[in-house]
Amino acid sequence: MKKVLITEFMNQNSIKVLRKKFNVIYDKNLWKNKKKLEKIIFKYDVIIIRNKTQLNETLLKKTNNLKFVGRLGVGLDNINLKYCKKQKIHVQPATGMNSDSVAEYVISSSLHLIKNISLFHNGTTKGLWPRTMLNSRELNGKIIGLLGFGTIGKKVCKLAKNFRAKVVSFDPYVNKSIQKKFNIKLISFKKLIKISDIISIHLPLNKNTKNLIKLNTYSLMKKKPIIINSSRGHILNENDLIKAYKKNLISGFAIDVFKKEPVEKDFYNKIDKSINCIVTPHIAGVTEESNVRVSDFIVNKLIKFFK
Ligand SMILES: NC(=O)c1ccc[n+]([C@@H]2O[C@H](COP(=O)([O-])OP(=O)(O)OC[C@H]3O[C@@H](n4cnc5c(N)ncnc54)[C@H](O)[C@@H]3O)[C@@H](O)[C@H]2O)c1
Repeated sequence: MKKVLITEFMNQNSIKVLRKKFNVIYDKNLWKNKKKLEKIIFKYDVIIIRNKTQLNETLLKKTNNLKFVGRLGVGLDNINLKYCKKQKIHVQPATGMNSDSVAEYVISSSLHLIKNISLFHNGTTKGLWPRTMLNSRELNGKIIGLLGFGTIGKKVCKLAKNFRAKVVSFDPYVNKSIQKKFNIKLISFKKLIKISDIISIHLPLNKNTKNLIKLNTYSLMKKKPIIINSSRGHILNENDLIKAYKKNLISGFAIDVFKKEPVEKDFYNKIDKSINCIVTPHIAGVTEESNVRVSDFIVNKLIKFFK
């Protein structure tokens, strides 16, 4: 029987299915113990991970029989893909399986932030009755700028259209025909950040996207937009977001992903109730439903792979 190592959380029923065909070790906290992982990985034919397990060259060099990497999600920046390709190790992401969850996160954050819900809530629960101190706005008619028009960008677009928002996107790699299909405009990065009321990031992390949004980029944003990052932390610097907010260059932000996770004190100590923001622990793609979809998808792919 082939041996499967699961180093991060996975849906229990999917593991049950897996146990019928494979010898499975499940330890959802193993990603934290790099030394142990390096010691035992040589025994396994399959490893199933999320985004916390760093499948770098050091760890991959300790493998012996590894044939299949199952990624319970889509970002592959924690895996040395070059090394896997060279060693003919198949890397399987759960493409599209958590995109509905992320798209809902983006739309719910957009609504929450454009309506200043947290600030109204905080004022009301302090007895201030801030009915006229702040403005609430609508998504209707606003421009949502999507950086990246892949699986998640497309889902966000569809939901945003239901609120009668206009969608523009910067993605030089997609076919121009999608403009008609999705009723959107593909525009340059510079133009997108200038005209958007909401900017949501849906890019992979790579050398082109790392630090794409820098501190001086915020002064080019003419509409004081809301910024949403549910892709990867290194694409923007989270401390710069607070600086931009305090300089009144943006009107709010939602961030789910950080340079270092768990996020560090020097960031969250700066967040107080006067800031129109949402800060979450990398959960945009993780819902009960997506955990089942993602886990079942990888189990099916794995069974097919060894058939
Ligand atoms: N927070 C979470 O829980 C969570 C969950 C799922 C995915 N994610 C992140 O979201 C990202 C996007 O996911 P997806 O499924 O939509 O990926 P995808 O690969 O389907 O889409 C990415 C899009 O980005 C475009 N792109 C690539 N490089 C670009 C560049 N330099 N400039 C402009 N566009 C570029 C591609 O052409 C593609 O259309 C993932 O890479 C992952 O890191 C986060």
